[in-house]
Amino acid sequence: MKAVLVGNFDCIENIAIKDVAKPELSVGTVRVRIQAAAVGFVDGLKVQGLYQTKDPLPFTPGSEFAGVVDEVAAGVNGFVPGTPVIGMVTNGALAEYICVPPGDLFVRPTGIEPEVGASFFANYHTALYALSARGKLQSGETLLILGAAGGVGIAAVQIGKLLGARVIAAASTEEKRQFAIGYGADAGLDYTRDGWREELKELTDGHGADVIYDPVGGDLSLQAFRSIAWNGRHLVIGFASGTIPALRFNLPLLKGGALLGVDLAQIGRREPDVRERVIAQLFTWLSEKTLVPVVGKVFAFEEVHEAFEAMTTRSALGKMVVRIG
Ligand SMILES: NC(=O)c1ccc[n+]([C@@H]2O[C@H](COP(=O)([O-])OP(=O)(O)OC[C@H]3O[C@@H](n4cnc5c(N)ncnc54)[C@H](OP(=O)(O)O)[C@@H]3O)[C@@H](O)[C@H]2O)c1
Repeated sequence: MKAVLVGNFDCIENIAIKDVAKPELSVGTVRVRIQAAAVGFVDGLKVQGLYQTKDPLPFTPGSEFAGVVDEVAAGVNGFVPGTPVIGMVTNGALAEYICVPPGDLFVRPTGIEPEVGASFFANYHTALYALSARGKLQSGETLLILGAAGGVGIAAVQIGKLLGARVIAAASTEEKRQFAIGYGADAGLDYTRDGWREELKELTDGHGADVIYDPVGGDLSLQAFRSIAWNGRHLVIGFASGTIPALRFNLPLLKGGALLGVDLAQIGRREPDVRERVIAQLFTWLSEKTLVPVVGKVFAFEEVHEAFEAMTTRSALGKMVVRIG
């Protein structure tokens, strides 16, 4: 089979598709024929060796995929060959086949295309968990989303609207702001402009943002926190800017505001019931088509390094997806 193989960390251009052995079905696993895989921010860091953990070389990147069950090991229930699925793994999704435990798979609802399925799980799970379980976002509240046109940002735009919030989409370019408005944001905000906090104040009639969803970090986070409403919640999602900000404790005191961390990787272990509820809600919305996940750009398998390039040059709108097979 064909798989993306990262042989060194020196250059995205060198990421190659190679012929490798089709993975053997082992005890307790399901083999999936992958139809589409997503490339996210963390994948972009991993292939450059910039992520907090380095994968032993060579490795196949890609953590989210959609495909069809190919074969099921004896004794594994819930899946049969031909079942359309969505999956999430640590690595290995940018390949024609993958073997995974059934716990990493979900049945893909009827009518959900592979590209949509591959764009779905991590970003929408993060957004709904963050906004509902952590941020307790209420209908009618104002939600400020930083990096609103990125993968995890645009998911929050859609989920925020589904939860009844007034959504302000902050992004660096007019194209990105219009992209977010196109997916339901009520207003755009150019956070690269001096005086953007004044504009936010006007947009909220002086109230500030009840919830701030922050996948960007850096100085921007500190500025945003200064514009939080009384009893506001600032959700720490990530640090796409590359800088982890340090907030002085007097600010939460003066603002009556809270800083809340969100880590998708730990929800299953720490809050299994909440995770189950969040996933059930997402799959209900997905099946009903109440939620149609944003597919940013679809690349052919041979163009995979272009998907990585988009993730590492701040140019991606939504989630980058690679079609396989
Ligand atoms: N906590 C969790 O469980 C969780 C889950 C998923 C993702 N994340 C994290 O969330 C962050 C964003 O992920 P993503 O997939 O949404 O990435 P993305 O699609 O690349 O979006 C990130 C956004 O951040 C903004 N940004 C500002 N400075 C940037 C810089 N120097 N380089 C790149 N982007 C910059 C960009 O918007 P503008 O150009 O508009 O500024 C960009 O659209 C990452 O740190 C990721 O690890 C965390």
